[in-house]
Amino acid sequence: MEKIMVETSPPLKGKVRISGAKNSALPILAASLLGTEDIILEDVPNLKDIEVMCEVLTSLGAKVEKLDKGIIKINSSNINNYITRYELMSKMRASFLVMGPLLTRLGKTKTSLPGGCAIGTRPIDLHLKGFKALGATINSDHGNISAYADKLVGDKIYLDFPSVGATENIIMAAVLAEGETIIDNAAMEPEIVDLASFLNKLGADIKGAGTSTIRVKGVKKLGGGVHSIIPDRIEAGTFMVASAITGGDITVENVITSHIKPIIAKLKEVGCEVIENGDSVRVIGNKDLKPTDIKTLPYPGFPTDMQAQFMTLMSLCKGTSVVIETVFENRFMHVDELKRMGADIKIDGRSAIIQGVDKLTSAPVKASDLRAGAALVLAGLVADGVTEIDNIYHIDRGYDGIEEKLSSLGAKIYRK
Ligand code: UD1
Repeated sequence: MEKIMVETSPPLKGKVRISGAKNSALPILAASLLGTEDIILEDVPNLKDIEVMCEVLTSLGAKVEKLDKGIIKINSSNINNYITRYELMSKMRASFLVMGPLLTRLGKTKTSLPGGCAIGTRPIDLHLKGFKALGATINSDHGNISAYADKLVGDKIYLDFPSVGATENIIMAAVLAEGETIIDNAAMEPEIVDLASFLNKLGADIKGAGTSTIRVKGVKKLGGGVHSIIPDRIEAGTFMVASAITGGDITVENVITSHIKPIIAKLKEVGCEVIENGDSVRVIGNKDLKPTDIKTLPYPGFPTDMQAQFMTLMSLCKGTSVVIETVFENRFMHVDELKRMGADIKIDGRSAIIQGVDKLTSAPVKASDLRAGAALVLAGLVADGVTEIDNIYHIDRGYDGIEEKLSSLGAKIYRK
């Protein structure tokens, strides 16, 4: 099994271009099942999760072609299969996002329960609540879930929690439903806005994406179009922390700064200089990092997907920091690995108390999930010695060219 090796690196310096957002590209690829003409997606990141989603689409009868770097052409005019295979579902939770499109386009869908990062229980009850409200009948047995409906009819749906995936799945099911669907307490993430703007280009009628109330007026059919994926705010945040933790000077290019406000604010709080300039942001690190506290929340709060990377940073701040994870039940799996590298972290329920240490020391560690893997790479950059990271397939699920990008900034990182 390949490993990522990270040696103690100098302060990282230079410019890095951020790829298209994984969490935007995945639902948009799923939504491509709704189009009946050619769809061209630009700035699609080169990631394992994207490959899996393309395989899912192909298995359902869509034609998927890679035209050039980051450009994918999809034609779903002849989709004919409503069953998603277990081996694809088990690789990635986001495969569940094809359920909404299949239900509304073919009137039925069947799948096994989704896989992906093992963070908390991650149920799908809200997705199913939405499908039911639109008139679908749901059956579940032996780990399979099927939904069918002669026709879907718009309704008012209140989400008990602003789930990103449920909001996306319900929007996609509603675009071809009869009448109007109103989703209240909807997720407000930028990736929801990107999905809605993509679907509207294809002919959908979605209003309010980016607010907590989304209105979808059903249309008879969707066509095709060209869409460019928004930049990945979590990849951007990870490189910003890389600059902060190494006392570097990195300019992160291709970002939408309004999407990364909490990350900018927290980096300033720990003592970094952050300069916003159009679609780029420069982060200048500081040797004397101050502690800070973080509470993860749905957007526009601090993103749970940046929690692990910040915990690595907090491990080297001078003083005590606290992290409260409110989005996922069990998202502290990186803590044991960071402790193996000398971090001083105590967990109390959904809180972690991080006492800053003078230095981290290399150790063989395992990426337990995608962002945990990123947190270990960041720790490796500043730890004494050579850090050996195992289970790196998690990192490849979500970071496009992580070694190339970090190496270009001066990091000592390679695969073995
Ligand atoms: C998406 C992101 C993931 C991010 C998360 C939260 C993608 C592909 N993944 O995941 O990177 O960490 O948003 O920002 O976009 N929940 C329920 N019932 C449901 C659905 C969710 O209780 O039906 C709970 C989950 O268990 C979790 C919380 O809601 O505790 C957030 O989940 P959700 O917003 O749905 O995250 P994902 O869409 O899975």
